[in-house]
Amino acid sequence: MLTFEENQTLARVGPGTPTGDLMRRYWIPATLSWELPDPDCPPIRVRLLGEDMVAFRDTNGVVGVLDNYCPHRRASMFFGRNEECGLRCVYHGWKFDVDGSCVDMPSEPTESNFKDKVKIAAYATAEFGGIIWIYMGPADLKPPLPSMEWTQVPDEHRGITKVVQQCNWLQGLEGGIDTVHINFLHRNLKSINNQAMAKARDRSMAAHVEVAPTDYGYTYAGIRPITDEEGDYVRTYHFVAPFYQLRPNQLARAEGRASGHIWVPIDDENTLVWNFSYRFDGQPMTESERAQTGTGNEFGKDIIVEEGFRSLANDGNDYFIDREAQKTETYSGIPGTNTQDRAVQDTMGPICDRTKEHLGTTDRAIIMARKILMEAVKTVEDGGTPPGLGTNIYSLRPIEKVLPVDTDWQNALSGELYEKVPYTTEYVPA
Ligand code: FES
Ligand SMILES: [Fe+2]
Repeated sequence: MLTFEENQTLARVGPGTPTGDLMRRYWIPATLSWELPDPDCPPIRVRLLGEDMVAFRDTNGVVGVLDNYCPHRRASMFFGRNEECGLRCVYHGWKFDVDGSCVDMPSEPTESNFKDKVKIAAYATAEFGGIIWIYMGPADLKPPLPSMEWTQVPDEHRGITKVVQQCNWLQGLEGGIDTVHINFLHRNLKSINNQAMAKARDRSMAAHVEVAPTDYGYTYAGIRPITDEEGDYVRTYHFVAPFYQLRPNQLARAEGRASGHIWVPIDDENTLVWNFSYRFDGQPMTESERAQTGTGNEFGKDIIVEEGFRSLANDGNDYFIDREAQKTETYSGIPGTNTQDRAVQDTMGPICDRTKEHLGTTDRAIIMARKILMEAVKTVEDGGTPPGLGTNIYSLRPIEKVLPVDTDWQNALSGELYEKVPYTTEYVPA
């Protein structure tokens, strides 16, 4: 459990809050590149860390992310005209470029230099890995880009989706790093998963969780005994502060794939869950594999892109729970893996009351994540650099394997957990 104050500290992310200040030290995924498909295309709304913004792609293809509110009289820039290298407010015509400079102010006399004194807040942006990233922190503390392996493969080798979750970001993150719930929430009663790893995973309800702290967060393993002869099924993950998880995907590693999530706060009570999956064996993914990445559902049928990446399944319809299916087919009766996750996480309340929980041994990874985040908050308050900003995160991969009983998994897997990714050049943003 956490104290009330600790819980509030980790949950709240608005400007000036301790965790808000921490989050603002990282590059943050803001939108998918394809949401701004062409120069001068319509701008889109972006809300992150409790701040309303608009993103637009200018005539040269450069992306700007500006405060939503025009500095003149606060009209929404979402309605702006995207033209000739700037976004023009439709209320009185003030126009701003991607850097936030006011480049035209037709409502003032031509001799006025008022426009040179007005700026709109603009955030630094970078575009890579199919995502437009923004940096919302102090300019002099801007870190290296989070150029993890999945951001570096060709676009056809990677799939990314996102969906809005109606609860605080930490509930999503904690759900992602909770390996034990897989045996329950996501269980298929008819089972039938013949994959060796999945079968091994299904045999043990109470995985032994071991956490190994690192400078970026930690790597951890859920260890499930199979038999003395066969060994232990070891499923490892990486938690990269403050909001990334890299996870294996049932034999995926052997097939040249890995995947993960990012839980990005929209505000204190809403979260954007990013799902990514990629191949690192030089093979492209199929169109449908890419489109369905990580949704646990059929993308396009369940997630409503036009309505801000919201899911049809929500607390208003109890996430389509089917009580008959719950008796005969699946443990939860809720269709779709990620919908099952959202159902249990969203309904803990907008901000889960962690003063009332009772954590067991299998919650070790969750306890450690909170500890690392609390320390990171303190580090930033003290003027230091928080974890997860080093370039060593570029080469992380998750892995799952069957190892002989009592093998030291960190030693046995270290080469693969921290594999050196063969970049031809250090990534440099355009
Ligand atoms: S409110 Fe935007 S130009 Fe007046
Ligand atoms: Fe889950």
